[in-house]
Amino acid sequence: MSSLQTTVVDHPIVQARLTVMRDETSSNAEFRAALREIASLLVYEATRELERADVPISTPVAPTTGTAIANPPLLVPVLRAGLGMAEAAFNLLPESQMGFVGLARDEETHEPTPYMASLPESLAGRPVLVLDPMLATGGSLLHCLHLLASRGATDLTVICALVAPEGHAALGGSGLPIRLFTASIDERLNENAYIVPGLGDAGDRQFGPR
Ligand code: URA
Repeated sequence: MSSLQTTVVDHPIVQARLTVMRDETSSNAEFRAALREIASLLVYEATRELERADVPISTPVAPTTGTAIANPPLLVPVLRAGLGMAEAAFNLLPESQMGFVGLARDEETHEPTPYMASLPESLAGRPVLVLDPMLATGGSLLHCLHLLASRGATDLTVICALVAPEGHAALGGSGLPIRLFTASIDERLNENAYIVPGLGDAGDRQFGPR
């Protein structure tokens, strides 16, 4: 049974940064800055329910009880495009650890080709935040999510700047419990599996064409 919970963060700042990302006249630097800001805002929304722990501290004035993050999530950018979200997530969650999954997209078949996974062996009991700017067909992201689930992860949150309805349906049909935070669910995929209207190739827009 699927349990996909989707939150579209329709906040004016998020939508303004998304517009910079969509605009074909934005430079690589402008695109990267907008992606970083969207990543921060989506991660902020996605972490509202993180488990807290009380910590006794003293201010210069009096003893009090503060808050710590009890079980910091593992951050997993999906390479290469997810790299542009990694620093923003780490800045918000410096107590977290980071793992990496590398997936290349075959431009003919649109199938994901894995080329690296650097993750803890066991993810049991650990929340995981997956960072990937684009959810297109869902192939890459599902590959990554099944890999995380095979290592015991059951608390999976996905952060995507943009989502296609086709990829959204694929996640929904996966049978995995997933929380998804995005700035937009766009219209559709085109014949090359690019999101429409989308923003082009999120890797090329950040780092330049291959
Ligand atoms: N990946 C991208 O970078 N862009 C798309 O539109 C689809 C997949």
